[in-house]
Amino acid sequence: MKGFFISFEGPDGAGKSTVLKQILEQITPKLQMQYITVREPGGSKISESIRNIILDPENFEMDDRTEALLYAASRSQLMAEVVIPALKAGKLVISDRFVDSSLAYQGAGRNLGIKEVKQINDFATRGIEPDLTIFLDIQPEVGLKRIQKLRPDDEDRLEQEKLAFHKDVYKGYQIVNKDNPKRIKVIDASQNIGKVVSDCIKVIEENLPEIF
Ligand code: TYD
Repeated sequence: MKGFFISFEGPDGAGKSTVLKQILEQITPKLQMQYITVREPGGSKISESIRNIILDPENFEMDDRTEALLYAASRSQLMAEVVIPALKAGKLVISDRFVDSSLAYQGAGRNLGIKEVKQINDFATRGIEPDLTIFLDIQPEVGLKRIQKLRPDDEDRLEQEKLAFHKDVYKGYQIVNKDNPKRIKVIDASQNIGKVVSDCIKVIEENLPEIF
């Protein structure tokens, strides 16, 4: 495929959405190609409907495997409708979360096994992986405190999980990061936002010079 694919990952409260917005503001003028952004779970009509089912705090009885399959289903639809056509058209795709989130949250957090969750996701993605993944590194305790401070009454079902869950997610990310040192670059997200953004842009420039 002609396009390029970058994903952003991190524990809840890493500041991913804010950082991503600022990165885009700064790199857009320099990009030599068209780009699209997608968010996971979601990014298409069907995927957003699945997102609402997954994140609804009322759905507390959801089975862990159902959760993993719904994330993979949402992702499959996003691939078919949005990501694959964009890559084929030579565009840059920037994704807020991707398969690594499932490996960390469902594989490690829900204890379904990283390998097992990878298998269902290979089916969903048709084996397509990002060219570059930026992991915003924040300790789970710090991330959760940020969220509670920012929006105390508006946590989704995953964010409401106990600290122990988020610690397992973090451990899962560390395993995934270690297994994919070429693709995944780790940025210290406890720094001030300006530094986090400039570190990310540097990593993108170094690893994907083709897009500029
Ligand atoms: P989102 O609302 O995008 O929150 P954030 O701004 O922190 O990215 O993410 C929704 C939640 O879904 C988040 O807690 C992580 C979780 N998640 C999974 O558990 N598995 C997945 O495959 C994905 C994509 C997200």
